[in-house]
Amino acid sequence: MQYLATTTAPATLETDCIVVAVFEHSELSSSASTLNKLSDGNISRIITRGDITGKPGQTLLLQDVQGITSPRVLLVGCGKKGETSENNYISAITAMATVLSASAIRHATSCLAEIDVQSRPLVWKVRQTAISTEAVLYKYTQTKSDVKPQDFPLESICFFDESNATQAALSGQAISNGMTLARELSNLPGNICTPSYLAQQAIELSNRFDAVTTTVLDEAEMADLGMGSLLSVSRGSREPAKLITMSYKGAGDARPVVLVGKGLTFDAGGISLKPSQAMDEMKYDMCGAASVFGTISAIAELNLPINVVGVVPSSENLPDGDANKPGDVVTSMAGQTIEILNTDAEGRLILCDALTYSARFEPEVVIDIATLTGAIIVALGSQASGLMANNQQLADQLLQAGNDSYDRVWQLPIWDDYQQQLDSNFADIANIGGKEAGSVTAACFLSRFTKDFNWAHLDIAGTAWKGGKAKGATGRPVPLLVQFLLNHIAHK
Ligand code: BES
Ligand code: MN
Ligand code: ZN
Repeated sequence: MQYLATTTAPATLETDCIVVAVFEHSELSSSASTLNKLSDGNISRIITRGDITGKPGQTLLLQDVQGITSPRVLLVGCGKKGETSENNYISAITAMATVLSASAIRHATSCLAEIDVQSRPLVWKVRQTAISTEAVLYKYTQTKSDVKPQDFPLESICFFDESNATQAALSGQAISNGMTLARELSNLPGNICTPSYLAQQAIELSNRFDAVTTTVLDEAEMADLGMGSLLSVSRGSREPAKLITMSYKGAGDARPVVLVGKGLTFDAGGISLKPSQAMDEMKYDMCGAASVFGTISAIAELNLPINVVGVVPSSENLPDGDANKPGDVVTSMAGQTIEILNTDAEGRLILCDALTYSARFEPEVVIDIATLTGAIIVALGSQASGLMANNQQLADQLLQAGNDSYDRVWQLPIWDDYQQQLDSNFADIANIGGKEAGSVTAACFLSRFTKDFNWAHLDIAGTAWKGGKAKGATGRPVPLLVQFLLNHIAHK
């Protein structure tokens, strides 16, 4: 899919379909009103018949409207004029994309970005359109044998705006491409998407973009670095662990933002085996890693003036004769010993060594992204990702980026008071903190390894994929991370 921009007014546009907004009480948007005049009131007459009342997400596809240069006009309901909420807008553009993809339309021009959505700027409306359209169009095919090409695939959406939406369209394009990459990696099954496969994909990324370089450490190299915690997880698997580093250089020798993505390509729980129900979904335990891939792809596509290092510790977590056992004590790269009371709390075991490793990049900030706890789903559902940080300024920037991108986060505390839950009788720290505040104690565990830098943790277990009938990865939090980096550059 291509996202483009035009300043050509709807009156003279020649495209397969022009998309315009209509509101409740038969009110028209500015472009709808232009088309209405050109067609001698045709659009108003159709609305008066009541086939579309302007409710958010309603659509009506008109053919051969007299006086209009394009063969089709798609009317999209956007609610009460002046009161379109963000969610109304997302319903409207999702409905638009659904109609466009189900028709023979290949190229459409959308005038929906002209309407007021709270006080959202043009760029927000354009990016949301790209994100929502991609969510409608995305179809997983990688391991299906009956894939038929679509007869009339939608090829482009052009944004009409007098002030020229080219930059906005480019960013929407890059973000949605990044989300698609994240979805593709995430949806792949664990027998294909192994740690070695992820490493290969990281090399592909560096082949695609000159500004990206990839290095991959194998288990022997990790052992030399003393990553006893990370390696204890992969001991139970026949797939060797990888530590993948993708470095994007767009700003000389500026200190980088380091993104650390949890890359468990399958998490069975290990000896603390998970229940079998929905265990297939634990192939998604690498969605943090996938979001790092997607973000690096987006910023490389946009040539952003920033340095970003993506660090992906990748392993499987399986039961085995050589796997971690409850009660085992391992030594992390930082030298702290860890008592593994539950082998299913493996994310923090691989992340702690990756976080320690991150210090060598002299980061400005480090953000880890992880499907870390089931408890965050209980707390926040699938709307917001959990945010925890050792620096409030960084937390505020992520909250802001969440609000700006509408890929939202909600902060939880990591007060010292929680740290005692991680006390161990046999090591410096235990890997679980009991049944209270599971997401917080998981972050508290990580905080023991991030004292030397500004750090934030995103728990995306509830937001990175959908279960049930529409099971599949969401591509989150790529929009959040790209927005954070864009804001970071703007405030320099
Ligand atoms: N990958 C899981 C977290 C998870 C669970 C994500 C369910 C999505 C859905 C993680 O490795 C895990 O197993 N966490 C445990 C921690 C517990 C043993 C302290 C959990 O949340 O149950
Ligand atoms: Mn686990
Ligand atoms: Zn896990």
